[in-house]
Amino acid sequence: MQQLAGKIAVVTGGSRGIGVAIARQLAAVGCAVTITGRDPQTLERAVAQFRSEGFALEAQRSDVGSESEVKNLFSSIKNRFGKLDYLINNAGTAHALASVDRLSAEEFRRVVDTNLTGTFLCTRAAIPLMGAGAVIVNNLSVAATQVFAGMSAYCAAKAGALAFTNTLREELREKGIRVLALIPGAVDTEIWNQFWPEAPREKMISAEDVARAVMLALSMPRGTSVDEIRIGPATGTL
Ligand SMILES: NC(=O)c1ccc[n+]([C@@H]2O[C@H](COP(=O)([O-])OP(=O)(O)OC[C@H]3O[C@@H](n4cnc5c(N)ncnc54)[C@H](OP(=O)(O)O)[C@@H]3O)[C@@H](O)[C@H]2O)c1
Repeated sequence: MQQLAGKIAVVTGGSRGIGVAIARQLAAVGCAVTITGRDPQTLERAVAQFRSEGFALEAQRSDVGSESEVKNLFSSIKNRFGKLDYLINNAGTAHALASVDRLSAEEFRRVVDTNLTGTFLCTRAAIPLMGAGAVIVNNLSVAATQVFAGMSAYCAAKAGALAFTNTLREELREKGIRVLALIPGAVDTEIWNQFWPEAPREKMISAEDVARAVMLALSMPRGTSVDEIRIGPATGTL
């Protein structure tokens, strides 16, 4: 992991769950990490926790669905560091289980704005800061390729984000920027409270395990193609 030291990284939705685990492992190998999220208190808690563990890292409040906030985020990365090596498009949200006929348009848009449009907005703002050897990791879900009744907005957004990821990879290949689809199964985080609070957590994998897989992919030498990471419980389903 030595080659990751000194790299500049942004982890969207890095204030808790999978994002904070990836941020912690990046910081531990010497990356300069900026985490984002919407809730300032959750961000502050994460920063305080990192500091208590001996890691320095920056936090910036930024909603991935807001064009202006995303623009501000990457302007400050440019001003502070002048470049970006790793963009981890991790921010995501689910929704309460609802069949299509009961799902509000507002809820549908909120989920698409975060999981799909947010990935686009952050990527578009980050590309000018990235050069050969840089990596973009898009945290999707098994829901990108598998459907779950009651989760239409989430499945549609994640499937769209997979198509976006695959297109992006082709566009950035010539520049030497790698694009990775991260496809986790069930991971024990707070996102489950949005649609299945009593889900069996003991059957899920940990956010740290997902982060370890991401670190392995990031540490692959330039010229290596790792297009997809699929990681989840060995049993497959819950
Ligand atoms: N847990 C799983 O089983 C699982 C499986 C497959 C894929 N995933 C994906 O993994 C990613 C991380 O999820 P998680 O499980 O770690 O969930 P989580 O614990 O709920 O964390 C979500 C993170 O995203 C942030 N976020 C949400 N909406 C945002 C927005 N509009 N702008 C900026 N930040 C936002 C949250 O902070 P704020 O709320 O403060 O903004 C938080 O930091 C998501 O993309 C999710 O779809 C999760």
